[in-house]
Formats: sequence, C-alpha cells, structure tokens
Amino acid sequence: MSEDGSGSTAAARAKESGFGYRGKWALVTGASMGIGEGFARALAGRGMNLVLCARSADRLAALARALETEHGVRAAVVAADLAQPGAPARAWEEASRGRGIHLLVNNAGFGLHGRFEELPVDRQAAMVALNCTALLELAHLALGEMRGRGSGGIVNLGSVAAFQPVPMKAVYAATKAFVLSLSQALVEENRGSGVRILCVSPGPTPTGFQAVAGTRVRQGQVGVLRAEEVVDAALAALDAGKTHVAPGLANRLSTVFGRMLPAAVAARIARRVNEQR
Ligand SMILES: NC(=O)c1ccc[n+]([C@@H]2O[C@H](COP(=O)([O-])OP(=O)(O)OC[C@H]3O[C@@H](n4cnc5c(N)ncnc54)[C@H](OP(=O)(O)O)[C@@H]3O)[C@@H](O)[C@H]2O)c1
Repeated sequence: MSEDGSGSTAAARAKESGFGYRGKWALVTGASMGIGEGFARALAGRGMNLVLCARSADRLAALARALETEHGVRAAVVAADLAQPGAPARAWEEASRGRGIHLLVNNAGFGLHGRFEELPVDRQAAMVALNCTALLELAHLALGEMRGRGSGGIVNLGSVAAFQPVPMKAVYAATKAFVLSLSQALVEENRGSGVRILCVSPGPTPTGFQAVAGTRVRQGQVGVLRAEEVVDAALAALDAGKTHVAPGLANRLSTVFGRMLPAAVAARIARRVNEQR
C-alpha cells in the first residue's frame, strides 16, 4: 500500500511530475524489444496506459500482459509493418480510437551497414519508409489531435548518426538527419501549443539493432549505454521540457563536434570509425 493511501508512492509521484503520464495513453512504435520495450516499461512504471506497436504480435502480447500485471495499467497491441504504404495511418486509427493518445514515441527504426551500392536498394528504401515516412505520418496524425486538445508529446528517435554524413551507414544517417531536422522545425512550429516535441539521439546501445544492421557494439567502444539508460535520459528531458537529448557525455560531445567540423572532414572521420563492423 502507498504512503498516503492514494495508490502512488512518493517516488512514483516524483517521476510523474513534469510531463504528466498517469492514466493517459501512449503509443510506442517498435515496442517489441530494445529501446522501445524500455520506453514501454518505463512509461508503465509512471502509470501510463500503453498501445504497443511492431510486427511481432506475440512478443507485444506477452509484453502487454506483463505490463498490466506488474504495473496495473492497461495495454493494447497493434501489430503492423509500418514500412508498408498506408500502415501508419491504419495503426494510428486502431491505436487512438476511443483513447486519445497523449504521448507518441516514434521509435521503430533500423539501420544497415555496408557500401551504398552493395546494400539491396529495396532494404534501403524500406529503411526510409520506416525511419522517415512512418515517423512523419504518425507525427502528423498525432499533432492534429494533440494541438486540438492543447496538450501532448511526441518523442522521435534520432541518432548521433544524424549530426554528420556516415559512410557505410549512408542512408541510415540520412534518415536520422531527417528525423532531427523535422523535429527541430516542429519544436518551433509548436511553441506555446502545449505539445512537447523531443528528439532523442542515442549513441551505441546494445539491442536487436546491431544484428539487423549487420554490425556490433565493440569492446571498449565509447558512448555505449544500456537501453534503460537511454530511456531514462529521454524521459528526464521530456519532463524538463527539453527539445533534444543525446544521452551520455561522449555522445553529447560527438553531436557537438559533428556539427562544428566541415561535413567533408566529419565524413572522413566517420568513415574511419565505421569501416569496421
Ligand atoms: N541501438 C542503437 O545503437 C541505436 C542507436 C541510435 C539510434 N537508435 C534508434 O533507436 C530506435 C530503436 O532501435 P533499437 O536499438 O531498440 O532496435 P531494435 O532492438 O532492433 O528494435 C527495433 C524495433 O522496431 C520494430 N520494427 C522494426 N521494423 C519494423 C517495421 N517495419 N514496422 C514496425 N516495427 C518495426 C522492431 O519490432 P519487430 O521486429 O517486431 O517489428 C523492434 O520493436 C531506432 O529508431 C534506432 O534507429 C538505436
């Protein structure tokens, strides 16, 4: 039982302050594993009801049941391949019907490592469809509703790769530069609207990402954080009303240097770092 009989502890109340999570609905894309699962668990811990979206229906259903049991929240599943044309709009319709989504976590995404002309073009186009098109369509639908209510939040997952061209991850870095630029413009368009826009730029985070991308987190690599640490930093930034966060000091510095250096120099350094998988 809680200290005051209200069902919430002081720690839970402290976590809740800032954005206002308890009893409201969040849609988390890419919630079946990795950073997205981390968001789902952390938001449920703050008393949010969840709509979990990804392709793996069974994993989502198991996570939804666990969140309901562990945190006493409601959790629904929308299984969708968001890279398919029309899928983001259908997923939004299913997720938001009768709920009113207060927080959209635009997290689903993937990367590919390799030379541009050697990676299959359909996989690279699917990356753009998921990392950019699905993210913008969901943000568009969410913003319309949130602005109407005068409250809400959108968290877009970018990357430290957004801050300079990245040879061997050329299209991935370009998709994340899109996410960063879009987010920064939306911040300005929505000032004073009651809707918070946050772009999160993680560095290397061991998740399912590396297996899909054909890369790995190397021994001694700088900037490595756990998915939970990325999520904690993101929600702290959302609470504080920040518009961008690169979790971890090394990653924060890499975003600063990525911007300060001429693009050609930054790209050459990024090539050296990314030539090995
Ligand atoms: N891990 C890193 O080092 C790192 C660094 C910087 C940025 N990020 C970004 O963080 C975000 C989350 O990545 P992660 O590290 O958590 O990777 P992850 O463990 O591979 O998780 C990716 C999530 O996206 C979902 N997903 C993939 N394709 C999808 C599709 N077509 N439709 C719907 N859902 C799809 C996956 O679920 P299903 O397979 O079930 O669909 C999964 O839930 C991504 O945007 C990524 O670019 C990651």
